[in-house]
Amino acid sequence: MTERLRLTVLGTGYLGIAHAACMAHLGFEVIGVDTDREKVARLSNGELPVFEPGLGDLLRDGLACGRLSFTTSYEDAAAVGDVHFICVGTPQRHDGNGADLTQVEACVTALAPLLTRPCLVVGKSTVPAGTAAAIAAEIARRAPAGTSAELCWNPEFLREGHAVDDTLTPDRIVAGVTSPRGEAIIREVYARQLAAGVPLYVTDLATAELAKVAANAFLATKISFINAMAEVCEAAGADVTVLGSVLGADPRIGRAFLNPGLGFGGGCLPKDIRAFMARASELGAECPVRLLREVDTINLRRRAWVAELACELIGGSPAGEHVCVLGAAFKPGSDDVRDSPALDVAQILHGMGACVTVYDPVAMDNARRVCPELRYAASVSEAATGAQVVLVLTEWPEFRQIDPAELGEVAAPRRAVIDARHTLDRRRWQAAGWHYRAPGVPVAPAVPIVSRAATATYPELIGTTEERSHLN
Ligand code: UDX
Repeated sequence: MTERLRLTVLGTGYLGIAHAACMAHLGFEVIGVDTDREKVARLSNGELPVFEPGLGDLLRDGLACGRLSFTTSYEDAAAVGDVHFICVGTPQRHDGNGADLTQVEACVTALAPLLTRPCLVVGKSTVPAGTAAAIAAEIARRAPAGTSAELCWNPEFLREGHAVDDTLTPDRIVAGVTSPRGEAIIREVYARQLAAGVPLYVTDLATAELAKVAANAFLATKISFINAMAEVCEAAGADVTVLGSVLGADPRIGRAFLNPGLGFGGGCLPKDIRAFMARASELGAECPVRLLREVDTINLRRRAWVAELACELIGGSPAGEHVCVLGAAFKPGSDDVRDSPALDVAQILHGMGACVTVYDPVAMDNARRVCPELRYAASVSEAATGAQVVLVLTEWPEFRQIDPAELGEVAAPRRAVIDARHTLDRRRWQAAGWHYRAPGVPVAPAVPIVSRAATATYPELIGTTEERSHLN
C-alpha cells in the first residue's frame, strides 16, 4: 500500500456522511456505500439529508473535486477499498434494551466474501463489547484475502451539530487493533490529526468498544447527577443553576455537561446506556453498571416533572387546553428528533388531552413524521397564540430573542412559561408579567442570582445555558 489509501464508508447516517466528507476533504478518495438507493441518489446530487452545520459544503466540495462518490454496490467498494469503515446504525432493539446489530451484521455479511484484496475493516459504529471479536472471526472465516483482511475498532465520539469539527479535530483517537499492520494503517488514515497533536490510544478490540460506551455512560451520568440535584434543589428551595456552576468551578469536576433541565435524548446517550446495561448483564457484570438504571430513571423523570408542572400551571387537567411547545429537536443545532425529550413532553401532554402546538426552527419535518398527532405552527407567536402555558424545551438561540411582552399579548392571560432548559432571561420574563418556572430553580422572587463580586470571580455563574454552552 504505497499509494494514498482508498477509503470506503459503509452506512451514510450522521456518522457515515460526516466521516466520508471529512476524509475526502483531507485528500482521500472516498466511496460512501448505502443500501438506500434514494439516499445514495440524493447524496450524489449534493443533498444533505440531515441538518448539520458545515457538512453540506464539504459534501458538495468532495463531489465536485471527484474524490467523493456514493454507490449502493458493495462489490464496487470492495474492489477498490484499502480501508472499509463500518458506520451503520445500532439502534435500540424493539424487544428490549440491547443494541440491534442487524445493520452491522448485514454489512459484514455483505462485505466479508468480497474482501479479495489486502485491507483493513474499521468498525466505527457503537457496539456492545464482544461484537468486534465476533466480526473479526467472521472476516477470518469468509474473506478470500485471508489474514491480509483484518479488523480494527475505532469508535467515533462526534456530537451532532459539531460533526465536522469533531471529525477533523477530535479530542482523541482510539484504535483497537489486532496487529502492528492495523495500527500502521490507522496512523496513515489519521496522519493529519496525529501530526496536529491529537492523542492516539492503541488498545485491544474490547477496550476500544468499551471506550465509546463508557464515555457516553459517564456523560449521561453527569447530566443525571445535576438533574438529581435539581430535584433536591426543588425540595430545598435552592438554585441548581448556581449549584452547577459552583460544582463546575472545581477542575476535578468540570463545568461541561452539568446543565440541568430536561435531560438527555437523541440517537446515542439513551440507547447506549441501555445497551451497555444489557451487555454487562449478559457478561455477568450487571452490578457495576446498575447505577445506569438510575441514570435513565432520573432522566425520564425530568420529562414527567415538566409535564406535571405544565398541568399545575394550567390549574389541573390540561384536557382541551392549548399548550405551546417550543423546540422539537433533542438539542439545538440539530434536526434530530430521536428520543427527543421535547417531543416526549409534548406527547405526554397530548396524551392527557391537551391541544399541543409545536414550533421548532429546523426539526418540524422530522417531528411531523414521528408525531403526526401534534399540531405544528410556523412561528413562535403562532404556536403561543391562546396558550395557557408556553414550554421552552430545546434551547434554540431564537427562543432567547423572544420579546416576552409581545408574546404575552397573544398567549392566554395567565402568562405561564416553563423554561425547561434555563435558556430565557428569567427577570425579563417576570418583569413582563409572566409566571416563570424552571427545573431546580426557586419559584420566586426575581432576585439577582449571584452578587457582582461573585460573578467577577466566577463569570460562568452568569448567563443562560446557551451562553455557557462553550463549556460543553
Ligand atoms: C453524544 C456524545 O456527546 C458524543 O460524544 C457521542 O459520539 C454521541 O452522543 P450527541 O448525541 O450529539 O452526542 O449530543 P450531546 O451534545 O452529547 O447531548 C446529548 C443530550 O444531552 C442532549 O439532549 C442535550 O440536550 C443533553 N444535555 C447535554 C443536557 O441535558 N445537559 C448537558 O449539560 C449537556
